[in-house]
Amino acid sequence: MASAPHTGISARQAEAGRYDLVVLANRLPVDRTTDEAGRPGWRQSPGGLVTALHPIMKQRAGAWIGWHGLPGPAPSPFVHDDIHLHPIALTADDVEGYYEGQSNATIWPLYHDGVEQPVFDRAWQDRYRAVNLRFAQAAARVAAPGALVWVHDYHLQLVPGMLRELRPDLRIGFFLHIPFPPVELFCQMPMREEIMRGLLGADLVGFQHAQGTRNFRTLAAELLGAEITDTGIRYQGRDVAADTFPISIDVAEQQRLGSDPAVRSRAAQIRRELGDPRTVILAVDRLDYTKGIECRLRAYEELLSRQGLDPADTVLVQVAVPTRQQIDQYQALRERVEREVSRINGEHAGIGRMPVHYLHQSFDRAELAALYLAADVMAVTPLRDGMNLVAKEYVATRADGTGALVLSEFAGAAAELRQAWLVNPHDLDALEEALAGAAFADADEQRRRMEPMREHLRRHDVNAWAAGFLNRLGRIAVGSRTPAPQRAAGSRGRWAEHARGWSARPAGRPVVRSSSGDTAALARD
Ligand code: ADP
Ligand code: G6P
Repeated sequence: MASAPHTGISARQAEAGRYDLVVLANRLPVDRTTDEAGRPGWRQSPGGLVTALHPIMKQRAGAWIGWHGLPGPAPSPFVHDDIHLHPIALTADDVEGYYEGQSNATIWPLYHDGVEQPVFDRAWQDRYRAVNLRFAQAAARVAAPGALVWVHDYHLQLVPGMLRELRPDLRIGFFLHIPFPPVELFCQMPMREEIMRGLLGADLVGFQHAQGTRNFRTLAAELLGAEITDTGIRYQGRDVAADTFPISIDVAEQQRLGSDPAVRSRAAQIRRELGDPRTVILAVDRLDYTKGIECRLRAYEELLSRQGLDPADTVLVQVAVPTRQQIDQYQALRERVEREVSRINGEHAGIGRMPVHYLHQSFDRAELAALYLAADVMAVTPLRDGMNLVAKEYVATRADGTGALVLSEFAGAAAELRQAWLVNPHDLDALEEALAGAAFADADEQRRRMEPMREHLRRHDVNAWAAGFLNRLGRIAVGSRTPAPQRAAGSRGRWAEHARGWSARPAGRPVVRSSSGDTAALARD
């Protein structure tokens, strides 16, 4: 994405310093970058959350609060691509404890079925509390009276509860982009009650999949003794709605890219550059252990070895987007994947042809669309995934109904894209069968499968997803809520206690001194 100038905020809302819609996500839609000449710029942030929210926020005059991707002071609020961005500062310790630690080495693996061992660390938990409070305070400052505040993802699960304490007038929604785990997994978390209370501070909590919604309701009852009602959860005199809102993509934009002559000609060029093989299989993932890259490589290699696919006429393009590179588990995964790719190429390559093309890079959306058009088979085989937008992008981009999608049963997208070759990625035989079946499907079978999926996406695009969530949140009558409990004059509630260095625990449980020194200053904001 091209750099944009640092413009001042001009909208009437922003002049007043208050917004009717405020989105909070760990990341802003753009990351701060520096080129070789030392010039600063902005680049689109990685991942499905940003892809989905970016077009939504461009249409609505709201504010987006998030991190700009580097440790250190935050830039002043600015407008980028018509979105009002409010950067949050994270120190190097915050990045290590809140982002790399508690968010991505504890919660991420735990919520993804524990496919890697979650690590629990008290100092990370304190950072997580401190940074969540910082986000909540930023939202409390910029939200207009009665505004809708939409909090996103696992990094910010304490924010709804904190924000309700700071601003009881707001309607607060929370959406989790990743799976919400079953009781027995969630209960491993040392902060389990605190996180559930944080989430229950929202008026509406949304999940990708019905299973997540069920897990949340069960946990609210079992862990906190909340009452489960027909519409949601009653907790401490408030009604909290919990429901399923499968996220989607900007289908119109993806179709536009798919029919763009420049993108089509680039797709043809990619096939030529790959040596015009009979079959191009594509996989596009952040280089994350949840994405099942190793199982996929193993299945592909076995197919080549026993001539289920012809090594001379088949290419796998594995795009592995760099991600979370400071975290041990991600570094170890990268080493394993790169070793495996070299091994497969060493054993099956010929002069001038390679069975695996491995690209550890980010691309712009047009190049990605060209790759989708160039691929006969799209292999989306995560071990666990909240949704997986890549699968939806592939289907939407291919306007002529050709192509074949192999999709893991453990991706949220499998609940909707039922006509794909659905597969258990842990079952090597099934994975090989699905890849070969997709590779040899004729055009009739491809269309029979792709058409209903494209039709489904046309009706369920990202606009429908956002409208579904925000309309539901907007319908929640502020007056129908039981008023917040009275607090002593001057008190800012239990979360403010965190800011003074104490962690909130249910009455009767040990109180732990927090080590996060910077929070005291925050409380005085
Ligand atoms: P996750 O959110 O876990 O990364 P998703 O599949 O839901 O997984 O979303 C990934 C998003 O990142 C998609 O919108 C996809 O288009 C985008 N993306 C994937 N690979 C690249 C790449 N190499 N360069 C830029 N964007 C990419
Ligand atoms: C997933 C998460 C997002 C996250 C993205 C990229 O999509 O749900 O919240 O932003 O991965 O990960 P990163 O750690 O680079 O933000």
